[in-house]
Amino acid sequence: MACNTPIVLRLATITDANSIVAFDHVAASEPARVQFIHDQIKSSACYVAVIDANVVAYAVLNYKFYDNGWIEMLYVHPQFRRQGIGSALIRHLLNACRTAQLFTSTNQSNLSMQRLLATLEFDRSGFIENLDEGNPELVYFKRLRDNAI
Ligand SMILES: CC(C)(COP(=O)(O)OP(=O)(O)OC[C@H]1O[C@@H](n2cnc3c(N)ncnc32)[C@H](O)[C@@H]1OP(=O)(O)O)[C@@H](O)C(=O)NCCC(=O)NCCS
Repeated sequence: MACNTPIVLRLATITDANSIVAFDHVAASEPARVQFIHDQIKSSACYVAVIDANVVAYAVLNYKFYDNGWIEMLYVHPQFRRQGIGSALIRHLLNACRTAQLFTSTNQSNLSMQRLLATLEFDRSGFIENLDEGNPELVYFKRLRDNAI
């Protein structure tokens, strides 16, 4: 179902951190995730989707993957999924990315993310075993332009 309410996509500010932590279920039990969110916001790598002044999703774009653009995180509030918000955030990152190629990854078990990436025409780029036992990390990439800016 497409979302008809306007979505604002923007860099996160530190005042968004509590909203993100409130809907990211991993943050509820893992202090390291809370720290990650704060760190990514502080380094201007965290983007949020906002609807009616509420933060409903966040994504992290940094350059840790062999100096390429790397979507390290995409997380949509459970009540706002299947409304095109995750796709909209990724499209926003396609424009924000400073490198010619953009990479991301997801577990083999995460069919939702795999389908989302397929709809945005990301290509597969191998896999990494032994991170999560029995659940390989599938790597994806998208060529954005011929040369880095
Ligand atoms: C994966 C995730 C980011 C998708 O976000 P979303 O906003 O629901 O995705 P979209 O609405 O943009 O979906 C785009 C397409 O992806 C596919 N898709 C997304 N969620 C799906 C699901 N649960 N089942 C099947 N296909 C799915 C569909 O093809 C969908 O298009 P459609 O709704 O027109 O059929 C969201 O489910 C989420 O936050 N999950 C928990 C965190 C996570 O797994 N993040 C990714 C790894 S870091």
